[in-house]
Amino acid sequence: MEKKVKTKGTKILGLPRPNYMKSRFIYTRLHQKSNTRIRTVFGILFFCNFAAKSKQGMIQATGIHKSYGNLEVLKGIDLHIAKREIVSIVGASGAGKSTLLHIIGTLDKADCGQLRIDGTEVNKLNDTELAAFRNQKIGFVFQFHHLLPEFTAIENICIPAFIGGMGKKEATERAEKLLAYLNLSDRKDHKPSQLSGGEQQRVAVARALINQPAVVLADEPSGNLDSKSAQELHKLFFRLRDEMGQTFVIVTHNPELAAMSDRTITIKDGRI
Ligand SMILES: Nc1ncnc2c1ncn2[C@@H]1O[C@H](COP(=O)(O)OP(=O)(O)O)[C@@H](O)[C@H]1O
Ligand SMILES: [Mg+2]
Repeated sequence: MEKKVKTKGTKILGLPRPNYMKSRFIYTRLHQKSNTRIRTVFGILFFCNFAAKSKQGMIQATGIHKSYGNLEVLKGIDLHIAKREIVSIVGASGAGKSTLLHIIGTLDKADCGQLRIDGTEVNKLNDTELAAFRNQKIGFVFQFHHLLPEFTAIENICIPAFIGGMGKKEATERAEKLLAYLNLSDRKDHKPSQLSGGEQQRVAVARALINQPAVVLADEPSGNLDSKSAQELHKLFFRLRDEMGQTFVIVTHNPELAAMSDRTITIKDGRI
């Protein structure tokens, strides 16, 4: 059955129906045609935008320099990471791995260089915009979980959602889903001190994921875990990438994790 097009009182391209369009037939045809054209134009624009974003990758850091006083830690880092890629960063202690990760995570500013994350020129954001961007786009997992000791697992997970303005009902629902996904449902009301090291780190992962970030940055996430828990955590990162599509940048000393990742980058003498 042909779909009826409502013409009375409607507009073409947002303009009122002109007087000279007396014929309902002509008006209807024009209305249909303009709708088709608009859909086609929007379709092309959407595709171009999608194609451009895919090509850009998720993280583009160019010419990153960072010094602390006389100590030149990063001497011009260029790093391009694709969407859904898992990249490990390795290097000797003091090589600048955490410094680079903090800069990518917008927790610290480079002295010079460009940083683009998911199509946003991070350098152009002011402090308020940057805090909102970080809250929505980036999840962090550190070596020490940094869970707040006086809050339960589920409360800890919800904190970034509350900071981002999410309501309690939605945040709790999301946190419960993540807890179930990470096999932690029966630990949701436990405080960090009542959880094992592996469980604490999985809660920290859930907290990193609550706002569905595009990027997860992890700084020696398994550095404090026994080998079984470390292996489980590493497998979890890959499962998350496969099922939720996150991009991961992981600083690690763990050779197994580095070998599992799509690409390993070594920092030496401030360069890659
Ligand atoms: N806030 C800071 N102030 C002064 N020096 C720092 C600071 N942060 C890091 N450094 C120095 O920068 C170098 C690189 O540190 P870091 O990035 O933490 O190394 P890595 O994570 O590779 O072990 C080290 O020599 C460290 O002492
Ligand atoms: Mg470090």
